[in-house]
Amino acid sequence: MSGTIPPPSANALVRRNAKLQRLLEVAKSLGAEKNVDRLLDGILHHAKDVVEADRCSLFVVDRDKSELWSKIAQGIGGGGEIRVPMGKGIVGRCAQTRSVINIDDPYNEPSFNQEIDKATGYRTTSILTAPMLDVNGACLGVLQALNKKNGAAFTAEDEELLLALGGSAAVALENAFLHRDIEKLFDGFIRASVYAIEARDPTTSGHSERVAVLTVAVAQAVTHTPPPEHKDVRFSDDDLKELRFAALLHDFGKVGVRENVLVKANKLYEHELALLRERFEHARARVDIEALLRKVAALEPHGLAGPARDVCAECDRERARAMAELDEMWAFIEKCNRPTVLEEGGFERLAELRTRHFTNGRGEELELLTEPERLNLSITRGSLNQSERLEIESHVTHTYQFLRQIPWTRDLRRIPDIAYKHHEKLTGDGYPRAVPAVEIPPQTRIMTIADIYDALTAKDRPYKKALPHEKAVDILATEAKKGMLDTALLQVFIESQAHKKLLETSFWEG
Ligand SMILES: [Fe+2]
Ligand SMILES: [Fe+2]
Repeated sequence: MSGTIPPPSANALVRRNAKLQRLLEVAKSLGAEKNVDRLLDGILHHAKDVVEADRCSLFVVDRDKSELWSKIAQGIGGGGEIRVPMGKGIVGRCAQTRSVINIDDPYNEPSFNQEIDKATGYRTTSILTAPMLDVNGACLGVLQALNKKNGAAFTAEDEELLLALGGSAAVALENAFLHRDIEKLFDGFIRASVYAIEARDPTTSGHSERVAVLTVAVAQAVTHTPPPEHKDVRFSDDDLKELRFAALLHDFGKVGVRENVLVKANKLYEHELALLRERFEHARARVDIEALLRKVAALEPHGLAGPARDVCAECDRERARAMAELDEMWAFIEKCNRPTVLEEGGFERLAELRTRHFTNGRGEELELLTEPERLNLSITRGSLNQSERLEIESHVTHTYQFLRQIPWTRDLRRIPDIAYKHHEKLTGDGYPRAVPAVEIPPQTRIMTIADIYDALTAKDRPYKKALPHEKAVDILATEAKKGMLDTALLQVFIESQAHKKLLETSFWEG
């Protein structure tokens, strides 16, 4: 017999060609996968397929610990993580030497761990282990195939194929890890930003996260069952992530709003109310003094006899009436000072109070209620006057200016735009730019509904009571009827019971 190797048959060549073709396709598909878990699954699936093995395992090198770990070693039982020291066993040796290990009789191989077979009842008959080498030749992991399907040993061709697949898998894995690191970085940065917003105004604590939970829940419901008005709207995992980040950051611009305006609980600031209260105290003291002076004047000529008695009684009645009137005026002012959720009137009486004066200790005649106080107390909705409202509204522009500084990845590039429009209305009269409905994407329309819902139902804030779910939905429905909100998306919000998601989330304290 001569030592020459017979040339491969035509069949073998066709088969090999097909496998190489398949390898190229696999490399392409692995390169497109950015999710580490799905990628690991994909690599295993393809590895098993390419070398026609019964089972496959993948071990990733943990350089810090000089170990290899695997979460999805097929057939080793359990779902937990397996760790192997570098250089130990077949897998550890393969990683250390960065070379293929092909064993056709494992039970005669000293480094083969028979205990796993004993524990699982599996019988290992052949093992092919190949390192996953990146372009620089560094070992990122190890692929291990068990039991060639036809019962024979793994061939030299299998070695070559598994090594080639390992190379593609290593590059794909490195990219996926990088992608995961970038995501973690973004996640950390977003959490830090949310912390910064909520540190400014603890009464709205949890708002950003709740809006994110509600928004994503509705977007998922839309994807599952799109309403006819949005029949082409679907949100991929990447879209949902983008939407979640946009929702978490939608109010970040509040860091640019003065804190006293941000947390303003009533129509007058505390120091303004204290000043007004002081004027009322002066007015009360003045009533007392006037009554006493009149009494003294009446008593001087005759003492308590005669008409002086009647004058004193009259003074007491007059004093009581004036005090009661001041008390009643003060009660009215305190009532006006409280903000209202819904538009309210009845402030005309404040104009009458503007005509009232009192005399101070220096004998100067002063107004009881100033014009700026009257204007603030006459605010018909909420607690903010026009300039404060504009300042609060500027948070949207601050949010946008902040978000557009960030070099978002392609998948997240729409975050600034989605967040920028969260106070716009479909009627075209929202803020800050009053953009028309056609420019408001479904993502923002959903977020706006979630934002208003949370503002209405969140736990009591100093300036408003928490509304029950039904009442909040009524208010949203009224706004939708007026054309401000997207009726179809509000319907999805209601029908999907998105608000129940808040109860499942750990941050919710309600
Ligand atoms: Fe906002
Ligand atoms: Fe908000």
